[in-house]
Amino acid sequence: MEDNAASLAAPSLVASPSVTPAHVPRELVVADFDFFAINVPDGDATKAWRAATEHLPPIFWTNQNGGHWVATRGADVRAVQLDHEHFSMSEFALPRGRRGMKSPPIDIDPPAHFAYRAVISPAFSPKAVAGLEQTSRTVIREVIDQLAPRGECEFVEDVSHVLPITVFLGMMGLPQEDAAMLLPLSRINTQAKDLAIAQKNRRDMADYMWRGVEDRRANPKDDVLTMVVNGQVDGRKLTDEELRGMSTLLLAGGLDTVASMMGHIARFLATSPPHLEQLVNDRKLIPRAIDELIRRNALVNTTRLVREDIDFHGVHLRKDDMIQIPNCFYGLDPSLVDDPFKVDFHRKPPVPSAAFGAGPHTCPGAALARMEIRVWLEEWLDRIPKFQIKPGTTPWVTVGGTNAMRELWLSWPAASF
Ligand code: HEM
Repeated sequence: MEDNAASLAAPSLVASPSVTPAHVPRELVVADFDFFAINVPDGDATKAWRAATEHLPPIFWTNQNGGHWVATRGADVRAVQLDHEHFSMSEFALPRGRRGMKSPPIDIDPPAHFAYRAVISPAFSPKAVAGLEQTSRTVIREVIDQLAPRGECEFVEDVSHVLPITVFLGMMGLPQEDAAMLLPLSRINTQAKDLAIAQKNRRDMADYMWRGVEDRRANPKDDVLTMVVNGQVDGRKLTDEELRGMSTLLLAGGLDTVASMMGHIARFLATSPPHLEQLVNDRKLIPRAIDELIRRNALVNTTRLVREDIDFHGVHLRKDDMIQIPNCFYGLDPSLVDDPFKVDFHRKPPVPSAAFGAGPHTCPGAALARMEIRVWLEEWLDRIPKFQIKPGTTPWVTVGGTNAMRELWLSWPAASF
């Protein structure tokens, strides 16, 4: 197992004075809290986040990963997401500088953000997403047809990684054969704690996308990559650097996130036969169930850079501090959602969730992600209506920029095939 999956020692409330900045009050310092090391013993990542933080101050400081604040109250997570005047997206991942390049639109603050976002928005329109549904269905059907008679699978490699990468490469008009090489890069992108490894990995992703960009410049096609290459901001074409970053963001944004969300949902259904049965018996419930399961398993752990000194809900944040806002804490806040760790497919909508962010940077890929998850569930439940965690195995989840499902063995009665 990798170093970032090591168990989290009990958080210490004792500061390490040599590295704690002077403006941080001693009582808010949890010197050794390292989110990369949050232990997820049973694969339930959001439960592990709560266990690691529930006895800590709602906004606390850690000296790990370059030193940063962590906000765990739902209202604080939402306030930071919405307030781009005080909280910049220019550094949205830890440790700071891990990407080593700009990636518009995600790390551009409003008002400039809008023009960059407009370049990619058409790729995620309802029509564009609907246009990808049949391919998604064909892909996942083939995958399930092959593995159903086996009676078991390693869900991450066999299923959840296959669909998003196939859809992404299809959207971009890139060769499907590149999937095997790209998947490990997408995983390292969110899970590497080491800055040098993270930056090299990002460069590898960018170099790959750049080859596609150069090809589309010479041979334009009817695909999203060509659309990005021809994109305009304030009446000018994107610079090479902007193109490199934007295309890499598209690669990074939708692979590990969708794959891991599918994994968290599969893990939950495998361990809760009554919920599985509800979906098998009533397919119309699937869209609501997806929203509820995304709320319960929100998996992105982004950060913001504090733009100017601010007293934030009683805590003095200083310009250039980093603050992490694990997205799960909004939809799991008991003041916003009754019994938030309970999964209830009949909650009255809208179900509060920050899983796809909020405000100007709200995930443009949310509808695409929901479509992929819905199509997978519809096809899977048709063929494999009963499944469980394979006896003798434990789901392997690590925490980083996302709560990533790394390995999930499932089994089911193969005799029926
Ligand atoms: C379950 C799947 C997904 C989740 C949970 C997710 C989550 C998020 C979140 C939380 C943000 C905002 C980050 C912040 O405010 O700190 C975001 C932004 C973004 N996501 Fe997603 N995402 C998912 C799928 C996708 C897909 C499929 C794509 C596209 C291929 C995508 C592309 C993007 C892009 C481009 C942004 C930046 C938007 C901007 O800055 O305006 N995401 N995502």
